[in-house]
Amino acid sequence: MTLVMGKKNLISVIDMKDEWPDLVDLAIKLKAERGHHGDPLKGKSLGMIFEKPSTRTRISFDVAITELGGHAVYLDESKMQIGVHSETMEDTARVMSRFVHGIMYRANDYKMMDKLGDWSTVPVVSGLDNLEHPCQALADMVTIKEKLGGFRGKKLVYLGDGNNVCNSLLYASAIMGIDMVACCPAIRMPNAEIMWNATKIAEANGSKIIASHEPEEACKDADVLYTDTWISMGDKTPEEEAIRIFKPYQINDDLIALAKPTCIVMHCLPAHRGQEITNEVMEGPHSVVFDQAENRLHAQKAVLYTLMKD
Ligand code: CP
Ligand code: NVA
Repeated sequence: MTLVMGKKNLISVIDMKDEWPDLVDLAIKLKAERGHHGDPLKGKSLGMIFEKPSTRTRISFDVAITELGGHAVYLDESKMQIGVHSETMEDTARVMSRFVHGIMYRANDYKMMDKLGDWSTVPVVSGLDNLEHPCQALADMVTIKEKLGGFRGKKLVYLGDGNNVCNSLLYASAIMGIDMVACCPAIRMPNAEIMWNATKIAEANGSKIIASHEPEEACKDADVLYTDTWISMGDKTPEEEAIRIFKPYQINDDLIALAKPTCIVMHCLPAHRGQEITNEVMEGPHSVVFDQAENRLHAQKAVLYTLMKD
């Protein structure tokens, strides 16, 4: 739901399903044109609320809006008036909408993200919540297009925790026609509703989304091996337990040997070497993780331009 006609948010990948292929192409174009954008967002401000730490998201949004001619306002949620005994999200959304032209929010709880999206009169872009990480998925699609030339017929295997990054990748893969395997332990599968929706989108699109609990089988002939931390921000799973649950899903040389010789290895970062990915793989010839990180900047420019231009 959004209370303002004509306003668009990017909270779930699905919110911009129809625009997604164009966003990928625009990000690639903006990357090529870096330094020559001509200030399309001149005079526009982006409020950025963070409830969790960030390196990539914070820096890339700030630089993105600045290079498009606008300005970022960083807001640490703990220093704001939002809270149970303080201002409601409904009021915060309406007040912020009087000051800024767009809001980026990194939220603990997707329900607060939805509330901000519903009550804000300016576009709201997710910088991650506990359900999705859509801007990461957009940067990932940009990286896959750059490295592999396209999407259709490509096999992406996500290994590890079926978390926010995995959920958004399911949607993005389904939309772009990638065959994706969510290879996760049975107790840490992706969100069931997202998995179901993505499967239907993929079917309609001529591609496949499937689940697996068998890394060796899943990685055969893969074009992309993707992983993320075994313990996301806010997840209380003890480290020893996470290691026990996820160890077979670690991206290491043995799994790479099963994938295509040309396969790329992706990670949204921050990485925990020796856990979800080995140091050798991170630093090895298949790894594209730092190009992938850079693409957050270009992907977010595409989102901000599309949602905030006049
Ligand atoms: N990948 C990602 O969102 O990184 P940060 O937590 O550093 O923003
Ligand atoms: N799944 C991770 C992604 C961090 C960018 C988390 O939510 O902490």
